[in-house]
Amino acid sequence: MFEITGDIALVFAMDAERGIGWRGELPWGRLSADMRRFRRLTEGRCVLMGRATADGAMGLVRQRDRTMMVLTNDFSKKPDLPSHMRMYGSVEQALRDWHDRTQQLQPLMVVGGKQVFDQLHPVANRAYVTLVGGVWSSDRRMCDGFDLRGWTITAHSSAVEDGVPMHFLDLWRPLRQWVLGWPG
Ligand SMILES: NC(=O)c1ccc[n+]([C@@H]2O[C@H](COP(=O)([O-])OP(=O)(O)OC[C@H]3O[C@@H](n4cnc5c(N)ncnc54)[C@H](OP(=O)(O)O)[C@@H]3O)[C@@H](O)[C@H]2O)c1
Repeated sequence: MFEITGDIALVFAMDAERGIGWRGELPWGRLSADMRRFRRLTEGRCVLMGRATADGAMGLVRQRDRTMMVLTNDFSKKPDLPSHMRMYGSVEQALRDWHDRTQQLQPLMVVGGKQVFDQLHPVANRAYVTLVGGVWSSDRRMCDGFDLRGWTITAHSSAVEDGVPMHFLDLWRPLRQWVLGWPG
């Protein structure tokens, strides 16, 4: 058992029915205000994602100004990784490497997709959520375990783009975080 002393942050956008993904991409395509916020939040950080999200159309893997940490069970899929990308076979391995690289002084930004949010949301103490107006065709939804009512809003702003309203929420909750599995 080990203690998480640093910030673990979820970064995601969801629609009115918690939709987050559609056929490997974002349900609403690209909303530039949301993408700008994403880039600002993750720049220079350790950014943890699932292999499907890394493969998707978010252009994430090209962003060399952050450390891309990808979870996968199949390391043969990407034998030649660029230097800013790392692969891990378990959440524990990824958390340990984040700890070793940053001493937990820099936040770990968890950017999805659904499988990864399912596993990491219980240990997150910060969340940067974009509420996207409307209901979009989705085949991936944010897990029910993530409940906005359990969080304090520390900042809030809004934007409208191509008629689509967005609310940007910065959330925090006090969390004593002990995680099983990483020897310490
Ligand atoms: N709205 C948003 O904010 C947002 C953010 C991110 C993604 N998305 C969307 O979400 C969808 C993708 O989500 P998803 O749930 O299908 O996939 P995902 O979570 O991105 O990736 C799933 C894959 O990650 C690997 N993985 C997950 N947990 C692991 C673990 N503990 N150990 C080892 N490997 C692990 C496995 O890869 P292998 O199959 O290689 O073993 C698994 O198939 C896309 O539509 C994407 O656009 C939305």
